[in-house]
Amino acid sequence: MAKRSCLAIILAAGEGTRMKSAVPKVLHKVGGLPMLGHVLKAAAGGGAAATAVVIGPRMETVAAFVAAAAPWASLHRQGEPLGTAHAVLAAKSAIAKGADDMVVVYGDTPMVTAKTLARVRRSLAAGADIALVGFRPASPTGYGRLIVEEGQVVAIREEKDATPAQRAIGFCSGSILAFRGAILLPTLKKVRNDNAKGEYYLTDAVEIANAARRKVVAVEVDADEVAGINSRRQLAHVEGIFQRQAREAAMREGATLIAPSTVWFSHDTKVGRDVIIEPNVFFGPGVTIADGVTIRANCHIEGARIASGAIIGPFARLRPGTKIGPNVHIGDFVEVKNATIDDGAKANHLAYIGDAHVGARANVGAGTITANYDGFAKHHTEIGSDASTGSNSVLVAPVIIGAGAYVAAGSVITHNVPAEALAIARGRQMDKPGWARRYRELKGVNGNPGERKSR
Ligand code: UD1
Ligand code: MG
Repeated sequence: MAKRSCLAIILAAGEGTRMKSAVPKVLHKVGGLPMLGHVLKAAAGGGAAATAVVIGPRMETVAAFVAAAAPWASLHRQGEPLGTAHAVLAAKSAIAKGADDMVVVYGDTPMVTAKTLARVRRSLAAGADIALVGFRPASPTGYGRLIVEEGQVVAIREEKDATPAQRAIGFCSGSILAFRGAILLPTLKKVRNDNAKGEYYLTDAVEIANAARRKVVAVEVDADEVAGINSRRQLAHVEGIFQRQAREAAMREGATLIAPSTVWFSHDTKVGRDVIIEPNVFFGPGVTIADGVTIRANCHIEGARIASGAIIGPFARLRPGTKIGPNVHIGDFVEVKNATIDDGAKANHLAYIGDAHVGARANVGAGTITANYDGFAKHHTEIGSDASTGSNSVLVAPVIIGAGAYVAAGSVITHNVPAEALAIARGRQMDKPGWARRYRELKGVNGNPGERKSR
């Protein structure tokens, strides 16, 4: 099979109206990645040497996404969304280049796997003219029904065109139809739009191929894999499938999830062994967690690398550009952004560390804030190794706290602190003896504090 060339044609032009969104359907995200991104990955993994993506006329955001995520793919425009067969024809220039296998994949089924693509291609290699994916969803409503006779798929009947008896069929058309390359164009040219929706259905290719006595087979896959997204409800359903798989993968690889259903992963979250994840944790894209890390309850983490032995949370927020070194402790209500925290450093409570480098073993006190933004630009804060910042200190960037230095509690630090020094930058304390008693007398309240009536 390795010698067979393959073109993947991904359909991403049809909008439908059920998403009710200003965002094109295929850019809605599953596991933090646009659903089209998942499909592009599967196509590449399934051995497609060439990929053609069909988009609509006003889909510049989709074009930009494809250019960034799959620069090897060619883009094709479908003028009006007149149906899935019409959409495939928009990629005529890619089809004309020829390929042994031409695999059409719908852009709204993100859980589709490279393995299934390879499977349908094996059916083509074994002699099928069309190999398509079939599945048995819990509710078949909205899907095309597969009419199979003695192993041959004789037709796909769309929901709206199906008789009640056909609607009772539970075996449905998934989102992959693979063609022996040479028959794709001649077959599609025969598709007509004489159906309930007035669209050119790709699924009609099956009856046309049957009339030409071609072999059409279905490859059955798990319903979760080809669940399609035509509505927000289905988007949430597929997100659920994605999360279940991601949780299972993390546990299989040696992570403990105390309450798996409360942990949310992204498509690219990497979790090491002996990682413990407490309940209610959300991972946005770009997170890598090394072995032996503990993520305590209620954390929000994105764009962060966390080295082994670190303890994060509870209630911590790590934002993009965060690098947490080995054995670092980040505690409750600490936010870290675009900052590197070296080995064994601690920020245990109530701090903001942004655009900063914190040296090894440094202690960032409760309420320490790096004031990194002057309204125009962001500035860097350097906290030297073994340094210690006192409670409620503001470090006005750009600024350097030297190695081993102390910053006194309540200080506003506006210039560099030398190594090993103590910086105190706050009003000096002044006591006024008897002031409080005189004040109360002035207000007409007499007696000792213990004898006063509380009000
Ligand atoms: C389609 C199938 C149905 C199958 C289901 C699986 C057809 C006619 N029906 O129905 O048999 O069970 O998928 O999920 O193919 N698109 C275009 N241009 C168009 C129309 C659609 O690019 O003119 C794209 C859409 O962006 C989408 C994909 O093709 O990614 C499928 O279209 P959609 O409207 O979602 O078809 P379904 O009704 O889901
Ligand atoms: Mg669909």
